[in-house]
Amino acid sequence: MAPSTPEVGLGIDIGGSGIKGAPVDLGQGTFLVDRIKRATPRPATPAAVAGVVAEIADAFPEHVAGSAPLGVTFPAVIQHGVARSAANVDASWVGTDAEKLLADATGRQVYVVNDADAAAVGEHRYGAARDIRGVVLLTTLGTGIGTALLVDGHLVPNTEFGHLEIDGHDAETRAASSVQDREGLSYEQWARERLQRYYDEVERLLWPDLIVVGGGVSRIADKFLPFLRLNAPIVPAELRNTAGIVGAACLAVERFGPAVPDLGTQGADAQG
Ligand code: BGC
Repeated sequence: MAPSTPEVGLGIDIGGSGIKGAPVDLGQGTFLVDRIKRATPRPATPAAVAGVVAEIADAFPEHVAGSAPLGVTFPAVIQHGVARSAANVDASWVGTDAEKLLADATGRQVYVVNDADAAAVGEHRYGAARDIRGVVLLTTLGTGIGTALLVDGHLVPNTEFGHLEIDGHDAETRAASSVQDREGLSYEQWARERLQRYYDEVERLLWPDLIVVGGGVSRIADKFLPFLRLNAPIVPAELRNTAGIVGAACLAVERFGPAVPDLGTQGADAQG
């Protein structure tokens, strides 16, 4: 019997420094081939970013059909496809209908989702939050702090708890991993002085059953997680930096359905 073809999605992650994309095997939650990465244009205006997204979306013709929907992560509030904030991205995105812009640029159906929300979906389907019921909080520690809240696996979008005001500061300006670099803090100092304060406040308000830590630093979580004393278990993301692309690809296929099969394909099963 011929091996069955995996259901494939396409995901692209728009970040402050890079735009990355890959075709995703939705059975496994893994990339079918290595992702490709391009530098984020400067300035990162909507038109310039859309050009790069279109180039990446077309880069995998052997793995993903031209009709496959595209899931895209973006580092800001995305309300029904429209960017509503711009903490660490070009201000001209605010008010842009990102879904329409990217659909026009790529010729695909496009689902745009906040980057932390996409990562939480990836971790829930395939990673550290797999099949967990109750309240799961995912936090991504990077340039800023992204957050996502899942309740019995359902996403409450655009939570933005990285911008809680704590001790008179926007929390991400005190506790993101970029702050650790910028201020030259050791992992222990960052964990004990900054992350502990941040997660204490988050726990006091949300009472999560599980906290998942994503972002680049999830790779080296053993350097700082052991210093934290919290009520909920706190664990590193399992998909590491692939979670956003995987989660966005899932969401796009869930919303629009898989690629329309090419009816001309030899040996295709003609029965519905
Ligand atoms: C933004 C969030 C984003 C996070 C991580 C924050 O500054 O407000 O929307 O998820 O950074 O990129």
